[in-house]
Amino acid sequence: MCGIIGYIGVKPAFPILLSGLKRMEYRGYDSFGFRVLDSDNEPFFYKKTGKISLAEPELLTMKVKGRVGHAHTRWATHGQVTDCNAHPHLDCKGDISVVHNGIIENYKELREELQREGHKFVSQTDTEVIAHLVEKFFDGNLECAVKKAVGFLRGTYGIVVISKNDPDKLVAARSGSPLLIGVGENEFLVASDPAAVVSSTKKVLYLNEGEVATITPENYFIFTERQPHEIEWSAEDVEKGTYPHFMLKEIMEQPSSLKNSLRGRLIVEEGRAQLGGLKSVEERLRDIDKMYIVACGTARYAGLVAEYMFEEYAGITTKVDAASEFRYRKSTMDRKSAILVVSQSGETADTLAALRDAKSRGILTLGITNVVDSTQARETDAGVYNHAGPEIGVASTKAFTSQLEVLALMALCLGRQRQLSNVMGQRIAAELERMPDLVELALKCAPHVKELAEKYKDSENMIYLGRKYNNPIAMEGALKMKELSYIHAEGVAAGELKHGMIALIENGFPAIAICPSDSVYEKMISNIMELKARGARVLAVATEGNEEIVQIVDDVIYIPKTLEMLTPILSVIPMQLFAYYVAAARGCDVDKPRNLAKSVTVE
Ligand code: G6P
Repeated sequence: MCGIIGYIGVKPAFPILLSGLKRMEYRGYDSFGFRVLDSDNEPFFYKKTGKISLAEPELLTMKVKGRVGHAHTRWATHGQVTDCNAHPHLDCKGDISVVHNGIIENYKELREELQREGHKFVSQTDTEVIAHLVEKFFDGNLECAVKKAVGFLRGTYGIVVISKNDPDKLVAARSGSPLLIGVGENEFLVASDPAAVVSSTKKVLYLNEGEVATITPENYFIFTERQPHEIEWSAEDVEKGTYPHFMLKEIMEQPSSLKNSLRGRLIVEEGRAQLGGLKSVEERLRDIDKMYIVACGTARYAGLVAEYMFEEYAGITTKVDAASEFRYRKSTMDRKSAILVVSQSGETADTLAALRDAKSRGILTLGITNVVDSTQARETDAGVYNHAGPEIGVASTKAFTSQLEVLALMALCLGRQRQLSNVMGQRIAAELERMPDLVELALKCAPHVKELAEKYKDSENMIYLGRKYNNPIAMEGALKMKELSYIHAEGVAAGELKHGMIALIENGFPAIAICPSDSVYEKMISNIMELKARGARVLAVATEGNEEIVQIVDDVIYIPKTLEMLTPILSVIPMQLFAYYVAAARGCDVDKPRNLAKSVTVE
């Protein structure tokens, strides 16, 4: 989704804006633009469709002076992908410019009204109305004009506004789209994403809903005085290092990201997990008998695994929903229900809307997120951070396994509050502690998966199947394959095959079967036989030591043995690698798949 960066300080703004934009490229974008104020000349203004890297040689030859500016990567919503529709957007006189994330829902009415008043529009975007509204209210003081203008906006926005007639400030405002201020030495940045500022400063402060901030070269001013906090990771964490793609780096980092997610949270000898972020609601948690897990994309599949965990080990009725559905449902939540929102970014618009709806009904709201101080983290009653480190690849990998791990920790907490025995608690805790090492072993399949990818890369369709804990992993495997390689892939509950999907099977049809040696292994074998009888080419993910499977299927990838509830953390590893290598072999842009965005901050 769109990315914003603004700079004010003692250094030339342009190189900082350019590197900030490049650090946000992973979010997905189709065009970009800059505007930098220059006290001696007209502002530098540049907007273009396509990749920044293609324009970079030209950009680097430009002499851009000025220490105040803003820039943007656009992911089109209103209006086609054209140079003109890229941000920043200007007012009639070209004095004021705006970069914007979000959607202005009442832009048509506002545009018509402003046009009646004589304003001239040049783009098809919703954003341009903001520039003209600020122009309408501008009488020499930019923050006053922005404050008035945002009062007329309906929808979501994170904006940074500059004006050559009030040139020594950036004005930022947010409602529904994240914005943070990076506090540096003699300089300040404003961005929609910490990755954009981390090479300049690690001190950041997120704007709250409805806040407007004025940032000058000396200071920043927000309505409410608040202290910045430190970003946990470093600039290297958002660089690829020696890896060809962020996605591969993040897949390979999983042993350490999982270790970080577990740190200090297990008391193995007591069979317990201690989650500091849930302490304040411990008593309320004891009383709940229904859990609604709400999330989007990959995070929802983590929720579907947790549905099995919470029901089996805590005896809590659990329902999982896509946030975009949940928010429009007449849900029957009551005081004995809790909602658990799961989101890597903590900024997904639908997930936040579901959270706010539940909150307004007095339901206990819990969250799992990877981003400290994100909107979700600030708005839930209690929650757990993943501490998985920044995830840059659009397709979620290390955040997903961390979500599974944190959900297992939660299942342990909730279970021990209820009927789960000390002995079983100890088994789960001990196995969780081994997870980073088991994932390290699972990753050893990478060269073999790379070879298999060559064999399967020209497929047009694929089917993924699994049961019970691995049913969501079949869906996640298929999601990864389609989003990265553009091969049509579907994940199904293996028992559902006979009710439809089997009609598609013919000679050579690729089927990926996740069948570890668990309580549904034999059922999976029956399903595989049904596929083989119809000519499918079956690639199985099985538990080490299973020799029988080699006689049945065409290809096997082995994963280490673990407790059934934790197998998804291991079985998803070959799924991630398989999608990665197939996509790379097909020449796809793995880190930035077409049409997708890392963080979906609009409905
Ligand atoms: C996008 C990303 C997915 C992610 C989903 C939910 O679709 O491409 O990788 O799973 O959003 O994001 P969240 O930040 O809420 O986990």
